[in-house]
Amino acid sequence: MLTNKRILLIIGGGVAAFKSLDLIRRLRERGANVTVCMTSAASQFVTPLSAASLSGNQVYSDLFSLTDEAAMGHIQLSRAADLLVVAPATADLMSKMANGLANDLASTLLLATDKKVLVAPAMNVRMWTHRATTRNVAQLREDGVLFVGPDDGDMACGEYGPGRMAEPLQIVDAVEAVLFAGTAEQFLAGKRVVITSGPTHEPIDPVRYIANRSSGRQGHALATAAKDAGAEVVLISGPVNIPDLAGLKTIKVETAKQMQAAVEAALPADIFISAAAVADWRVDTQASQKVKKSGDGPPSLVLIENPDILAGIAGRKVQRPSLVVGFAAETEKVIEYGQAKLARKRCDMIVANDVSPGSGVMGGQENSVHLITASAIESLPKQSKAAVATAIIRRCNAMLEEKQS
Ligand code: CTP
Repeated sequence: MLTNKRILLIIGGGVAAFKSLDLIRRLRERGANVTVCMTSAASQFVTPLSAASLSGNQVYSDLFSLTDEAAMGHIQLSRAADLLVVAPATADLMSKMANGLANDLASTLLLATDKKVLVAPAMNVRMWTHRATTRNVAQLREDGVLFVGPDDGDMACGEYGPGRMAEPLQIVDAVEAVLFAGTAEQFLAGKRVVITSGPTHEPIDPVRYIANRSSGRQGHALATAAKDAGAEVVLISGPVNIPDLAGLKTIKVETAKQMQAAVEAALPADIFISAAAVADWRVDTQASQKVKKSGDGPPSLVLIENPDILAGIAGRKVQRPSLVVGFAAETEKVIEYGQAKLARKRCDMIVANDVSPGSGVMGGQENSVHLITASAIESLPKQSKAAVATAIIRRCNAMLEEKQS
């Protein structure tokens, strides 16, 4: 519930502005007091009168209005709120925010505020993926601005892809997560976390595949722990026998190449955790029909190496998540090999675990891991995969805070 919480909603000029009217209604349903500021472009899409009627408050739009300034100055307006929400956040508005521009009321409020800012981007897919927007988003994340969405979907312009504004109820959930961050342990509110989980299946022919014993339990437990900490989670999972987790987006894939494409499409993110047991090799040419026994003995399978998803993400020049965490599944010299993987894959942390047959880790309920960073090794006691996940997520948060301080 948002009773007595004051939200300053900044509506940018985009087609998604019509959804912001519903957002006002949804926020008020939960008890919030909503004050709206509209950019001049926004009033081309929705009228200030609609926003005033739905919010029950005066709508602000003019930086130089004498009457507005007399009643409530723009500095006061930006600080009277408990949270600023920008929805839709257009490419233009985010660019102004990233560069500290203050040439209209919306950008001035955003620069003058001492409160948290949650943005819900909305724009054409090409605008969202443009390097300039990518740079601005990275800058804003670094500045501590919180994000919800955008989602993938059909766009008003007829294209398909990421750029669609998050739905109003999703934004309300994010608002609650941010506002109750301190109280309900929602320390990752406004952060986006991408996690891979489970094995990959690499087809040999239409009925056979190469796989491994990963159950996906540890990766899925991480997704749950990140969601419980208030993060927006995208879980990219290979084939597992675990029911879908509520409250987070799961993308199901089979092969390493599909997993890699899904991870890249899920960026930008604050944290990437590569918990999947990605098959190192795939069959060079998959048979289009079932391979039959012939009198000439067994078929020979030519294997080629799969892309290393983790190393690819950690080595990115653009859109590298602030924190990249990998796992090291080892059957001997666990710490030594873990340290080597940390360096080789350029991760910020490696979670190393012993998966030798006697350990019962692969497919089991418990895990004992070592958290390896460039500066320290912390060995956790054997505990449930859920408890291990909570410890890893807390550690990720501490590392993220350290990076951003
Ligand atoms: N990983 C990945 N893509 C691959 C292989 C591994 O993203 N093609 C990731 C795993 O998700 C894990 C980390 O890399 O986070 C280490 O995986 P692991 O299987 O322990 O190491 P490998 O890279 O396969 O190295 P090796 O087989 O030599 O131990």
